[in-house]
Amino acid sequence: MTTNETRRSILEALAEGPVSGPQLAESLDVSRAAVWKQIDALRDAGFEIESGPTGYELAAVTAYNGPAVEYELEAPFSIEYHDSIGSTNDRARELASEGMTDVVVLADEQVGGRGRLEREWSAPSGGVWLSLVTRPDIAPAQAPLYTLAASVATARAAREAGVDARIKWPNDVVVPVGDEGEYRKLAGILTEMEGQMDRVDWIAAGIGVNANIDADALPEGATSIRAEAGDVDRRRFVQRLLEEFDRYRGDLEAVVPAWRDLALTLGQRVRVERATGEIVGEAVDVTESGALVIETEDGRETVAAGDCEHL
Ligand code: BTN
Repeated sequence: MTTNETRRSILEALAEGPVSGPQLAESLDVSRAAVWKQIDALRDAGFEIESGPTGYELAAVTAYNGPAVEYELEAPFSIEYHDSIGSTNDRARELASEGMTDVVVLADEQVGGRGRLEREWSAPSGGVWLSLVTRPDIAPAQAPLYTLAASVATARAAREAGVDARIKWPNDVVVPVGDEGEYRKLAGILTEMEGQMDRVDWIAAGIGVNANIDADALPEGATSIRAEAGDVDRRRFVQRLLEEFDRYRGDLEAVVPAWRDLALTLGQRVRVERATGEIVGEAVDVTESGALVIETEDGRETVAAGDCEHL
């Protein structure tokens, strides 16, 4: 059994209730010294394990790192955690090109965070910065659904944290300010992919959430979970986000209806900048692949991608 497998097995046993060192050693078929060593390592990793009269007991998980996020995560992702990294998307691209799947690169801080359209993305300690790698068996035309699924998953996790999170087309998670379509940005998504004409090879969905960040440390027009609802348990938040994403990637037909339910853009007057020019009109719907339908003075137009501004 590898060290990681031993740790996982110990955690699984502790989840069932108190268990003694000798019992663990016997059931895992390792020495008692090996059990002590791994219990110490788990304590160092933020698992509060108490030794009571009936054995070891897991009192709390306080850490934010790989083993802590994997513990009780109900989705098949492994977590690669970094205290600090350039960009989780860059690392995810590396892992994807090595053939990995269902891996999440998670960091407390990014020093070279990237946003859409080559913009910089501020990512100080306290936020949730992650990139997940998945290798779906789909055509490239369906890939935008994964970005929509990421925004739905993020908005739903934020709503559970007490924030009135909504989605601005295509995939900004925002908090409304008043009822005229104005908002502050809570989270952004940067999806990168590689593939052939007819098949996606991998998708790296980068998700950045201003979680436990002070209002005065945020870029203009942004907000955070801390500013809206108080601090969130980031471990639980990431788990909920990944569980929701896993659910929607397994049920792509549910993505657009869930997106519509959370949309702030529908019913708004918008301006969308595309490579081929801008369109102004009322956003009336999204298609089943997530393109925005805009009622303009000259009739309906469908926009697959672009930078959208609420007017
Ligand atoms: C946007 O412009 O709205 C998208 C921002 C995406 C930021 C996230 S943070 C995690 C991942 N790593 C990056 O460098 N960018 C994405």
